Amino acid sequence: MNYRHIYHAGNLCDVFKHIVLVQLLERLHEKAPPLFHLDTHAGIGLYALDSVEATKTSEASDGIKKIATAQHPMFGRYFTLLRRANALFPAINICPGSPWLMAQLLRPHDKLVLCEKHPDDFLLLKKNMPAWPNIQLHHRDAYEAMGALLPPHEPRGFVLIDPPFEQADEWQKIHAALQKSAKKFSHAVCALWYPIKDRTTTQRHVETIANMGWKKIMLAEFIYAPPQRSDRLNGCGMLLINAPWQLDQWLTALIPALHQALQQPNCGSLVEVMGES
Ligand SMILES: C[S@@+](CC[C@H](N)C(=O)[O-])C[C@H]1O[C@@H](n2cnc3c(N)ncnc32)[C@H](O)[C@@H]1O
Repeated sequence: MNYRHIYHAGNLCDVFKHIVLVQLLERLHEKAPPLFHLDTHAGIGLYALDSVEATKTSEASDGIKKIATAQHPMFGRYFTLLRRANALFPAINICPGSPWLMAQLLRPHDKLVLCEKHPDDFLLLKKNMPAWPNIQLHHRDAYEAMGALLPPHEPRGFVLIDPPFEQADEWQKIHAALQKSAKKFSHAVCALWYPIKDRTTTQRHVETIANMGWKKIMLAEFIYAPPQRSDRLNGCGMLLINAPWQLDQWLTALIPALHQALQQPNCGSLVEVMGES
C-alpha cells in the first residue's frame, strides 16, 4: 500500500466528491429513521495542507483553496463545515476528509463505521476523529468489511466507497463487493468515487455495475481535461446507487457552478440517470 491521501487532499476531485457527499447526506437525513454510514476507505479524516507532503504537490491550490473564496449558494453546507474545520477561514489550512464531514453531519441515533487499512493512516484517523459512541473505527479491509457489515441492523444504510485505485484489480474488487450487496442489501444507498482517465474503460465498469440489478443508478462526472490522454487524470465521477429523488437535478446545477468556481473548462461533464428517475 503506497497511496497516501495527504499528497492529494483538497484537490479538484476531493472537492467535487465532498460537496456531493454533504448534499447526499443532508437529503438522506431528511428521513427520521436511523441511518448506518460506512466509509470503506476512510483515510485520516483531517489533512494539514501546510504539511511537507501536501505542499510537495500543492494540489489543494486548484481545489479547496479556490472553492473557499467562491461563495456560491450551492456549496453552502460544505462551506459551513469548511469554516468549522478552519478557524482562520477563508485561509484554508485544513482539508476535512470524508470521515470528518460525515461525523459532523451525524445525528445522535445514526452510526458511522470508518475502515482504513494502512496502519499509519489508521492511527492518524484515530487521532483526528472524535471519540463518540456512535462512531466506530476499524483497521480493516474495505471489501471484507462490506461483506461482513452489510446489511446493517439499522433500517437504512449508506456506503461511501473511495478507493485509491492503485491496484490493478481494484475495479474487480468493487464489482464483487457491489454484486454481493445488490443481492443482500438491495436498498443500500452507495456512492462510489472513480477516476476518469480513459473514458471507454470507465464506461465499461459503470455498465457492469448498472447490470447488477440495482433499482436506480445515477452518474455525475466532473471532467476538466480532454480525454485524449489516458495516462493522466482528466476528471472523476461519482456513481450513486439508490440516490434520493431529484438529486440529479441538483447535480446538473452543481457541475457548471463547480467548473466556474474552480476555473476549470468543461470537457464533457455529465449527469445521467439509469433506471428509475
Ligand atoms: C482516496 S483515500 C480516502 C479519502 C477519504 N475517503 C476522503 O474523502 O477523505 C483512500 C484510502 O483508502 C485506504 N485503503 C486502500 N486500500 C484499502 C482497503 N482495501 N481497505 C481499506 N482502506 C484502504 C488508503 O490507505 C487511503 O487512506
